[in-house]
Amino acid sequence: MKKIFAINGSPRKNGNTAEILRDVLSGAESAGCSVELINLGDLKFSGCRSCFACKMKNGCSYGKCALRDDLTPLLEKIIQADAFVMGSPIYFGAETGLYRNFLERLFFPLLRYTNPPSTLAEKKLEAAFVYTMNVNEETMGLYGYKEFLDKFSKFPQMIFGSSEPETLYVFDTFQFDDYSKYESSLFDPQHKAEVRKNQFPEDKKRAFEMGKRLAQKL
Ligand SMILES: Cc1cc2nc3c(=O)[nH]c(=O)nc-3n(C[C@H](O)[C@H](O)[C@H](O)COP(=O)(O)O)c2cc1C
Repeated sequence: MKKIFAINGSPRKNGNTAEILRDVLSGAESAGCSVELINLGDLKFSGCRSCFACKMKNGCSYGKCALRDDLTPLLEKIIQADAFVMGSPIYFGAETGLYRNFLERLFFPLLRYTNPPSTLAEKKLEAAFVYTMNVNEETMGLYGYKEFLDKFSKFPQMIFGSSEPETLYVFDTFQFDDYSKYESSLFDPQHKAEVRKNQFPEDKKRAFEMGKRLAQKL
């Protein structure tokens, strides 16, 4: 059975990103895959420390991250899987630190500093991306989020030989359970409630279909 991991780069285990990722996994499961959701917020780990142990010729950690923390066993499992779907909320126009730290640790040990750059990954992994955010699609375009986020989507092709990854953007998300409890006059709570009621279920369906398509690539 093919295995797909979803990696939640939000510190919230039951937030928008987690919910959408669970739908992606349900879609993949319906197409016959075994699935697992990892909440990075549960783990203690750092980003790349630039020690270069993974690049040292004949070194005992060549091609592997030498750091030992909660990510160590997980990285081993992911590179043996068949696909992964990465999810992050947008924080200040970019991915969360959690998400970025994870990808540094996943990609860098496998990236060979050859000319042109090449990979040490032995297994093909398909990939997909999910981003959730407060802004709407038009504002995302104005702020240039997409161009920034697209940079990461090139790496699974280069490192894991994946086909072009799909990306799902989820806009205008519900940030609080009750807007009246928080200082949040920036937002129109009625509009947010409407989007939650009418648009978010559509986003969940798109996530499910994306999971099915991801499974069908395997
Ligand atoms: C620290 C922080 C920074 C944020 N910055 C942005 C931002 O720059 N643009 C945006 O659209 N949303 C921003 N948001 C909103 C989240 O991206 C959005 O609510 C997201 O859906 C939350 O996902 P989650 O429920 O999975 O945590 C920010 C939220 C937090 C907590």
